[in-house]
Amino acid sequence: MPQFTDNFARRFYYLRLSITDVCNFRCNYCLPDGYKPQGAQNKSFLSLDEIRRVTRAFAAAGTEKVRLTGGEPSMRRDFTEIIAAVRDNPSIRQIALTTNGYRLQRDIAQWRAAGLTALNVSVDSLDARQFHAITGQDKFHEVMRGIDAAFDAGFSKVKVNTVLMRDVNHHSLTTFLEWVRTRPIQLRFIELMETGDGGSLFRKHHISGQVIRDQLLQQGWVQQLRARSDGPAQVFCHADYQGEIGLIMPYEKDFCASCNRLRVSATGNLHLCLFGDGGVPLRDLLADDSQQTELQARIAGSLTTKKETHFLHQGNTGITQNLSFIGG
Ligand code: GTP
Ligand code: 5AD
Ligand code: SF4
Repeated sequence: MPQFTDNFARRFYYLRLSITDVCNFRCNYCLPDGYKPQGAQNKSFLSLDEIRRVTRAFAAAGTEKVRLTGGEPSMRRDFTEIIAAVRDNPSIRQIALTTNGYRLQRDIAQWRAAGLTALNVSVDSLDARQFHAITGQDKFHEVMRGIDAAFDAGFSKVKVNTVLMRDVNHHSLTTFLEWVRTRPIQLRFIELMETGDGGSLFRKHHISGQVIRDQLLQQGWVQQLRARSDGPAQVFCHADYQGEIGLIMPYEKDFCASCNRLRVSATGNLHLCLFGDGGVPLRDLLADDSQQTELQARIAGSLTTKKETHFLHQGNTGITQNLSFIGG
């Protein structure tokens, strides 16, 4: 099977697979009112067998890394089995998780034993009260203990996602820097993205990642050269700090040139871009093992329609779906 590529010579070896839309947090930029099932949808997330088939098809076409996203992936009772099912593909060398951290303390050792190799945890504030106000959950200390548990379980590095919000946490760089001084954490500030129903929050709190970049450069942080295979973050290091700082600025104009990822939603739609595409249904080809060739052909065919960039600078609104429905 040829590898998945597009008309702009980008190779796609990274699958972001959402396995549920359900989340137990109510982050104000994502699910401010909490998760609400849409119709019977909560019953119809990809089954373990469908996940097996979709990952096998991607693995056969060159996928080396699968990130499990949601919603909150660990809300699934079969989450450990899902990790093990992805690991059954020997060519998938990295299995990563993006999580709110709620179940880490309890389960991270088990997930690692099942095959999890990398971990991204969302932490928008290091102040327990502010954390509660942003996420709707009074779980700051649990999440911190969860990150410690990840190190105890053998992860040598953990990535932390912090959504950068004007007047909420944009003045808190010093506190975040102190936290990573002695910890092998790559803390990434993500520019707030405008979602379908998050317009007013965006207008109030969006701030460019450049404010952090300027402060880092003034304080002697050095930007690392970016490899083509790197994720979306620009990474900065400092000799006095064990941790690193990353900046994810999705509205930057050259952001898409290094795009290496495809997304599959929890209901089995292929999304070619985080911004503005409706999704190509794959689920009808996940019912049986005999459909693998047809499934790969549909994915490869769709890729010929992937656009060169998100065109936010040329008229696209820049509004993405609620990230809990596309897996970020
Ligand atoms: P790794 O590089 O694999 O560690 O992960 P990541 O940073 O891509 O994953 P994570 O799930 O932690 O996502 C961090 C943020 O980056 C989220 O807000 C994502 O929505 C955003 N992001 C990830 N990939 C893309 C992308 O292709 N385009 C855009 N615009 N944003 C992305
Ligand atoms: N803007 C920026 N980041 C967001 N995330 C969720 N919604 C948004 C948004 N509107 C982040 C989460 C998580 C990652 C997958 O995406 O905080 O860390
Ligand atoms: Fe890829 Fe779209 Fe993200 Fe650009 S905005 S990096 S094309 S997913």
